[in-house]
Amino acid sequence: MSSFIVLGAQWGDEGKGKMTDYLAEDANVVVRFQGGNNAGHTVEVGDKQYKLHLIPSGILYDDKVNIIGNGVVLNPEALFEEIEYLEGLGVKITPEKLLISDRAQVIMPYHRALDGMKEKVRGKNDIGTTGKGIGPCYTDKMERSGIRVCDILEKDTFKEKLEAALSVKNEIITKVFGGEALDFDKIYKQYLDFAERIRPFVTDISVKVYDEIKDGKNVLFEGAQGTLLDIDYGTYPYVTSSNTIAGGVCTGAGIGPTMVNSAVGIAKAYTTRVGKGPFPTELFDEMGQWLRDKGHEYGVTTGRARRCGWLDLVILKSSARVSGLTSFAVTKIDTLAGLDKIKVCVGYKFNGKVIDYFPASLKSLAQCKPVYEEFDGWDESIADARSYEELPENAKKYLKKIEEFTGTKVSIVSVGPRRDQTIKVSEL
Ligand code: GDP
Ligand code: IMO
Ligand code: MG
Repeated sequence: MSSFIVLGAQWGDEGKGKMTDYLAEDANVVVRFQGGNNAGHTVEVGDKQYKLHLIPSGILYDDKVNIIGNGVVLNPEALFEEIEYLEGLGVKITPEKLLISDRAQVIMPYHRALDGMKEKVRGKNDIGTTGKGIGPCYTDKMERSGIRVCDILEKDTFKEKLEAALSVKNEIITKVFGGEALDFDKIYKQYLDFAERIRPFVTDISVKVYDEIKDGKNVLFEGAQGTLLDIDYGTYPYVTSSNTIAGGVCTGAGIGPTMVNSAVGIAKAYTTRVGKGPFPTELFDEMGQWLRDKGHEYGVTTGRARRCGWLDLVILKSSARVSGLTSFAVTKIDTLAGLDKIKVCVGYKFNGKVIDYFPASLKSLAQCKPVYEEFDGWDESIADARSYEELPENAKKYLKKIEEFTGTKVSIVSVGPRRDQTIKVSEL
């Protein structure tokens, strides 16, 4: 029995897609357990680049089973667009290769509409969401008025649920936000059509994942977003609406914690964030712009410029704790080549003391001043390094610092976007 988790240790975009694709080589099954098409995962194989949002990053292999778990919020229109996009790039998508949970919540047009309207009303306090309807869909799930995949497969059930939902949503859209009411017939017809196209892919994925693990297969759980976007342990309310940490695997894929063997946190060698919210090591000067340019830090889903800053070890230590990480995979260390000095945050100065944990209160966080340790950089390009020994001594010192501070080993070093630009240092 073997199963492991790949999750983001920062604010998303750490390179989860690349690492999932790399690690999927040894897996039989890849499972997405939370989030939706707010995610943007890039995978590069040879000279081809693939951008995935909803479909697990194991899809590029023909012999892997890819699962969209019950914890995911699924926009059927986005799903079919992604299938078409992948098929256009020569990737086969069949019901043997892609399974969808009957319990996944469905993103409806009113979720997307409300996402935008709520952001507008928040004004300068907006979250900077991706506008995909993620928050409103998870809200309905918790409020118990959501529509699940199994519901749209039953004409009568769907009719009843959509009528009930729309009667409330249209009141809110028109009376609270002054928007235009959505048309029942149009949505009903459109989603019944989606339902028929989805039907062949739908199954009870908890049973499937359990059986695969019991059968001795290798199962990889692919996280979306990152630890600091977690609804409980992130920079609330500047977070996404799901549990992005390891705990989300159990509820989002329907398996128990005793069935997971390891969890690898994907950590970028510096820090980025998209959207609003606190970011203690953010750089507003030319150094921030240098990282953005050199690391091509622009969002896959929204195209927005990512905010950039130094590596924050307080964040990585918190991430290791809340997810019980067994190791880190450090990505984009190649981006740092050419810097004379590299700073790393090793604590926050707060109320006259230095702390090494991430405070819950945003007011406290705003008072935290990063304490930096400075490292010597390296000039050599490391994009072609294929073993740990080939890395410059100063890059090794940088990686050692991550291990020492977080008490968690670095099992993989990624030196470029392609699958082959990866150095495996130890077991996960
Ligand atoms: P994800 O959301 O965590 O999957 O990450 P994204 O795909 O949004 O952003 C990561 C970006 O960095 C993508 O463009 C990847 O192709 C790229 N990338 C991943 N790992 C590396 C690496 O080690 N070096 C470099 N230079 N780029 C990388
Ligand atoms: P991947 O999987 C980076 C951010 C948004 C916003 C907040 C809430 O590619 O790492 P939402 O639409 O989820 O309600 O937006 O979360 N966000 C991400 N940031 N990477 C992502 O996904 C993200 N998914 C959501 O920018 O700040
Ligand atoms: Mg991304």
